[in-house]
Amino acid sequence: MILSIESSCDDSSIAITEIKTKKLIYHKKISQELEHSKYGGVVPELASRLHAIALPAILEECTPWFSQLKAIAVTNEPGLSVTLIEGVVMAKALSITLNIPILPINHLKGHIYSLFIEKEVQLPLTVLLVSGGHTQVIEVKSHEVMETVATTMDDSYGESFDKVAKMMDLGYPGGPLIEKIALDGDSSRFVFTVPLWQSPLIAFSYSGLKNQVRLAVEANTSEDYPDIACAFQKTATDHLLQKLKKYFKLQKPQRFAIVGGASANLYLRREIEILLAIYKVPLLLAALEFCSDNAAMIGRAAVEEYARDNFVNYTDVMVNARCKL
Ligand code: KG4
Ligand code: ZN
Repeated sequence: MILSIESSCDDSSIAITEIKTKKLIYHKKISQELEHSKYGGVVPELASRLHAIALPAILEECTPWFSQLKAIAVTNEPGLSVTLIEGVVMAKALSITLNIPILPINHLKGHIYSLFIEKEVQLPLTVLLVSGGHTQVIEVKSHEVMETVATTMDDSYGESFDKVAKMMDLGYPGGPLIEKIALDGDSSRFVFTVPLWQSPLIAFSYSGLKNQVRLAVEANTSEDYPDIACAFQKTATDHLLQKLKKYFKLQKPQRFAIVGGASANLYLRREIEILLAIYKVPLLLAALEFCSDNAAMIGRAAVEEYARDNFVNYTDVMVNARCKL
């Protein structure tokens, strides 16, 4: 079995995955959303201290499996350096104590493997990763070859929801809060320009849209927030759709998946489904509990790394806050 640890942002999570069957045996996650909510975003130092409490508490529950562990998997990149280090230090301590190697896992790769936790998925696969830290289109050609073909030039899709929610004083994380108030909104009352709509680039940008929304929030009252949220969600999603359409003209996917925390957004899911229906491309999604950060996806990614002997000695595992897939 592999014990996996995730602490790249504000979720402390540990999972145990059986190597041979790839089955998830144990999974627990303690989210810090409430603690960060009053600040309207994640406070890295606070997140780090909360991981230092939550991770050992979860680990206690895993002791019955210790004798069966063959490796420790840990998210070591990308993420907040002060929170990644909490998981990495725990992985190193376990590696020394149990005398087993470490499998360092890239968090973005982990999100891709959220699709594989409950079922096998055929490759190749085109993935839209929409999280708080990333907005990317990734071509998963095989378990070894994954290529980022489009990325954001500034903010990410999920992050823009967080920032708009903060402007409206709704709390954190902003995604579910904006999606909820948008249900009572009229998307036609406010018109925002779709980012990069005239640009031939297949890339994303959310900072300009965020500023358009800021002006609307400042010029109106809280009664208008549902309409602003609805128009914002539509424009943010239209931007993804427009660039995906451009990309599909170059490269029609065989199958398509949305992963990451923001893949829980039902409006986004529906709009992508409509787009894919035109191309007759199937849409794959992870179970809701595995969309946001979790150690189960890290464990599932680690099973593939285990098969390839991608072990690293505890002395060589590094935290890399800013890195790509
Ligand atoms: O994947 P994740 O848990 O963490 C990162 O790797 O960043 O994603 C968290 C992000 C947050 O920005 C959150 O607001 C966003 O996902 N999110 C959503 C929704 N649920 C979570 N964004 C839009 N709509 C949602 N329903
Ligand atoms: Zn994530």
